[in-house]
Amino acid sequence: MAVLNVNIDHVATIRQARGVDEPDPVWAAAECELAGAAGITLHLREDRRHIQDRDLEIMRQTVGVKLNLEMAMTDAMVRIATRVKPDQVTLVPEKRQELTTEGGLDCVKHKKRLMSVTKRLQKAGIVVSAFIVPDAKQILASAQAGCDAIELHTGMYANARTDQQRARRVKEMTKGRDIGMENGLVVHAGHGLNYRNIAPIAAIEGLEDFNIGHGIIARSVFVGIREAVREMIALIDKYS
Ligand code: PXP
Repeated sequence: MAVLNVNIDHVATIRQARGVDEPDPVWAAAECELAGAAGITLHLREDRRHIQDRDLEIMRQTVGVKLNLEMAMTDAMVRIATRVKPDQVTLVPEKRQELTTEGGLDCVKHKKRLMSVTKRLQKAGIVVSAFIVPDAKQILASAQAGCDAIELHTGMYANARTDQQRARRVKEMTKGRDIGMENGLVVHAGHGLNYRNIAPIAAIEGLEDFNIGHGIIARSVFVGIREAVREMIALIDKYS
């Protein structure tokens, strides 16, 4: 059965908008955990636009469920991760100008680098996942580079405008799951998932974690974060 990791970056974005100390993403993580989330996901970006080093360090001490750190494959980030030791690192591409993570990591192009970063993280006891588009070449390259898991990018599915396009993207995800599992990878999914589009993705058997941020934090403005997380867990449970 699939489980939910809540990405709490947007809580930090609100805090940084004022440069003050609230709302605290550490509180948000505790609320998500109380609501039944299986994990907390946070992205420490090189430009520190939302999550700060202090958030990661405190969450490492306070989060009792899986702590999943999204990060770029830089030496500076690898040093932080191997010191703080989140349960899992999800390697993502990072561009300074982007609003959110665009596209997946190019594991074919960066296979050598991915292999060396993966080895260093695993040596520190961290599970390594790569955020990739559901493409056979990318999945095989992640497996060959030694990753433990992949997170299949659901952004193209989320952006699909017709039932036909959506069905094609679900098929792509299902095929990606098959190739991933055949190659010994744990398969997660995320990006752009919300209360309206989660059902067909939750219904893909064998996917383990869903990483969801924007949809949940947006709803929490109106219903509170605990309720928003509970509603998403209920939908995942219903359709998976
Ligand atoms: N997975 C990855 C790798 C991401 O970078 C993000 C966005 O930070 C998400 C999942 C969550 O995406 P969304 O905020 O659209 O739910």
